[in-house]
Amino acid sequence: MCGIVGYISKKDNPNSLRTGIEALKRLEYRGYDSSGFAAWDRNKKEIVSQKAVGRIAELEKKITDNYISANPIILHTRWATTGEVTEKNAHPHCDCKKNIWLAHNGIIENYKPLKAQLEKEGHKFVTETDTEVIAHLIEKFFQGNLEEAVKKALAYIKGTYGLVVISKEDPNKIVAARSSSPLLVGLGENEYIVASDPSAVIAHTKKVIYLDDGEVVTITPENFLMGREKEPEEIEWEIEDAQKSGYPHFMLKEIMEQPESIENSLRGRLIFEEGRAKLGGLNSVRDKLSQIERINIVACGTAYYAGLAGEYMLEEYANIPTEVDFGSEFRYRKPVLNKTTAVLTISQSGETADTLGAIREAKEKDLMTLGIVNVVGSTVARETDAGVYNHAGPEIGVASTKALTSQLTVLALLTLFLGRQRQLSLVMGQRIAKELSLLPGMVKKVLENNKKIEEIAKKYKDYNNFLYIGRKYNFPIALEGALKLKEISYIHAEGYGAGEMKHGPIALIDEKFPTFAIVPSDSVYQKMISNIEEIKARRGKVIAIATEGDEEIKKIVDDVIYIPKTLEMLTPILSVIPLQLFAYHMGVARGCDVDKPRNLAKSVTVE
Ligand code: AGP
Repeated sequence: MCGIVGYISKKDNPNSLRTGIEALKRLEYRGYDSSGFAAWDRNKKEIVSQKAVGRIAELEKKITDNYISANPIILHTRWATTGEVTEKNAHPHCDCKKNIWLAHNGIIENYKPLKAQLEKEGHKFVTETDTEVIAHLIEKFFQGNLEEAVKKALAYIKGTYGLVVISKEDPNKIVAARSSSPLLVGLGENEYIVASDPSAVIAHTKKVIYLDDGEVVTITPENFLMGREKEPEEIEWEIEDAQKSGYPHFMLKEIMEQPESIENSLRGRLIFEEGRAKLGGLNSVRDKLSQIERINIVACGTAYYAGLAGEYMLEEYANIPTEVDFGSEFRYRKPVLNKTTAVLTISQSGETADTLGAIREAKEKDLMTLGIVNVVGSTVARETDAGVYNHAGPEIGVASTKALTSQLTVLALLTLFLGRQRQLSLVMGQRIAKELSLLPGMVKKVLENNKKIEEIAKKYKDYNNFLYIGRKYNFPIALEGALKLKEISYIHAEGYGAGEMKHGPIALIDEKFPTFAIVPSDSVYQKMISNIEEIKARRGKVIAIATEGDEEIKKIVDDVIYIPKTLEMLTPILSVIPLQLFAYHMGVARGCDVDKPRNLAKSVTVE
């Protein structure tokens, strides 16, 4: 996934390049292995460009000229998909005559045959990327009007793109186009800003227009032309939301703001006296939902683990058979689906290619598609029949934290909604609603363990292997805890159902292989105690996540982190938080870049 910015000032802005670079920096979490810009320089009457490998700061070091007459400008920060991380492969890319310049986010699936044909026609390629094909294809059709040439070229493209294009021979405009990769236009007072997501425009305007698939827009200093009238939308974030607010890292900020993000996920959605959930985004499919006989949850990474916990919730309280698939598996296996199946996707970014692929596969089969999404206006939100926004606010850290607890909260709300359409009693519905409303306060209490968890991380910082175990609602949290540690500190970690240990993983246990055991006082507590004793019998160290008031656990484990007592179905929302903090502090202790871990990107918009 990459970050794209197109900037065009409505009047002469001598700092347009600086403005573009600042906007690009807000997208650096989307990809940061190389970056570049290209701009029409009105005085020199040519397109100037600079690129660099590494963070955007490396590009800034290479900019010796202020290019005060640069307007428009396109900029790009890359997460490599096709072509090594080199300066040559950094975007923007251009055609043979250096007339057409463009920045691209996505994958051109048919770039090889297109490149072969264009080479046959005499085009000379200089990069290993798929993107360069688009520049030469536009060159092939260019006869003086940029948007016409772009539209003709895109007709040959198979794959995904978010694209910004400028031209030397047809200057003073940006042409932008979108197919699957997100793109929006910020309607500023003095400028237009095209970007991959709201973080890049929010400092200038909250008024945006989201492009839909297949749309091509032409932006000049005077106006903004697109195929059809579209009402601008309002970004709901404040700029400080997308900044660190005094924390050393976005990841810690986002862990610590979970009381608020859960509050926001619940706001206006609990009807206590009727023991039900009000989910406006489902109004259009309310009746159809009451007829649904099974749910297939589809998601990736952390969102998939949320889905696994959701499976337990939906089956126990809404009595709906539920299964969970990885987005990357769903459309390649032969799922047995019928018209009474709903496909429920979960995605923080709403742009994950594997999850989008599942939505499109489900729609092929005329199934109801639902989305639990954090980013408003994202592709999942726009392509599903209905859904529920998390309202967790921007999650900038690559590791998903507040999005996960919001996803679990929304899954509990959805369970309540569907359960009360079925056999779930008024009394139980009221109990769930009440417990949900107490979550923000309980989360705050868990966060008070931060210093203690930092100490535990220091104690274990030199261990290179960890096992995470849990059962039932906390089995998915064992998987998530292991993922958090892996992706933030690069330490090997295994997540397992505790009952599975005796079938193999226990062979790993010795004094050098500690275990996190998630053992709240719930229906499987005794089973967990037996598993913990099996580990202790092999000199394994155990860190327990247990329920406040459990004094017994202290006698058999090495460290305990307590969480408040709540309904079993809601314990994952509390038990995951110490694991998030542990992974964070281990990453910091090991000197890792916890906000931008190596090899990862915030949203994987390629397959
Ligand atoms: C989680 O910490 C990872 N960053 C990753 O697994 C992420 O959850 C996954 O890529 C899904 O992203 P989405 O929720 O935006 O679809």
